[in-house]
Amino acid sequence: MKTVSDLGDLRGKRVLVRSDLNVPLDGTTITDDGRVRASVPTIKRLADAGARVLVTAHLGRPDGVANPKFSLAPVAERLAELLGAPVLFANDTVGPEANRIASALQDGQVAVLQNVRFNEAETSKDKDERREFAGKLADLADVFVSDGFGVVHRKQASVYDIVRELPSAVGGLVEAEVDVLKRLTESPERPYTVVLGGSKVSDKLGVIDNLLDKADNLLIGGGMVFTFLKAQGHEVGKSLLEEDQLDIARGYIEQAAKQGVRLVLPTDIVVAPEFAADAPATIVAADAIPSDQLGLDIGPDSSAAFAEIIRGSKTVFWNGPMGVFEMAAFAAGTKAVAQALTEVDGLSVVGGGDSAAAVRQLGFADSDFGHISTGGGASLEYLEGKTLPGLAILEGDDA
Ligand code: 3PG
Ligand code: MG
Repeated sequence: MKTVSDLGDLRGKRVLVRSDLNVPLDGTTITDDGRVRASVPTIKRLADAGARVLVTAHLGRPDGVANPKFSLAPVAERLAELLGAPVLFANDTVGPEANRIASALQDGQVAVLQNVRFNEAETSKDKDERREFAGKLADLADVFVSDGFGVVHRKQASVYDIVRELPSAVGGLVEAEVDVLKRLTESPERPYTVVLGGSKVSDKLGVIDNLLDKADNLLIGGGMVFTFLKAQGHEVGKSLLEEDQLDIARGYIEQAAKQGVRLVLPTDIVVAPEFAADAPATIVAADAIPSDQLGLDIGPDSSAAFAEIIRGSKTVFWNGPMGVFEMAAFAAGTKAVAQALTEVDGLSVVGGGDSAAAVRQLGFADSDFGHISTGGGASLEYLEGKTLPGLAILEGDDA
């Protein structure tokens, strides 16, 4: 893969950068700017080199419609604050404003183009439609830099097709993310522990499959626990349950035992009669969840057991909260896992937009961890061993 240094002298060149600026918004307020901050070094490096920088990115899933709710304008403002320099904003992606700004840009200036997903062709399944749109994006610039790690698993015009239209290189963020993922997949220092949470087993099938013969310990928390507990024959009350995944969960339990992987499930659960922040919480054994209650977090014994395994590991990858961390009464499990990751003597990786936002919301600093990935889906797909189209195309392969 070509890197930014391979692009030569960039002074006066128009550089189109694909960043992942898909941040959570509350109205127009960014509630976690981690992805904007992570995108700054590449943008700054290009601007410092005298390039005319055009940033293209998406926000949410506007489905091809220009919906102001998904405007990148607040993100462009935040980027300007972080860069300490003005950032121009085009209220279209390849239209008259984008063209005007692209031709008026001065050396070292930065502009953000409006949400690329306001254009239906960006995410089209029709490759000709995508390619035509990528051609219009390419007309704005001389070279392309792929730096949106969180979106490299998407075969979309501004991630994939654009690489055929312009001389292209990988940006520093994607390089750094891939380096860490390589350390996790190629020869992880052992013990290697993977902690998975989140609500659905079905989201994590690929990664569990692929890690069962690689990890030493697989710790499972979050809503998907109940499908595993049920698969072991326990009652789970009103807890989240994926009936159609029971056989698969059973299969994983057997396979883990056969392969000598420690698959660790919680032994106690925080339950409540309803899904509400002020619902009365109690702790019960994982095999004794009352029929009128639902599990909303892993219990204190489980948290302590998970933390001990994590702290004793040399490599840890964590994706997905252990409970409903947004509600204080059900945040302890996620907090305990995050805290243990900060104490790892080795490589600790927080995978994903949501898990990353969770640790920041719980008061941890980015520097407390070895690496916080900006890509949830992308890092999971990498660990699943899948080909990521946005990376493959940069390597000259067709995904
Ligand atoms: C993400 O938030 O996971 C990335 O920005 C990709 O977004 P997407 O899942 O809507 O493609
Ligand atoms: Mg996502």
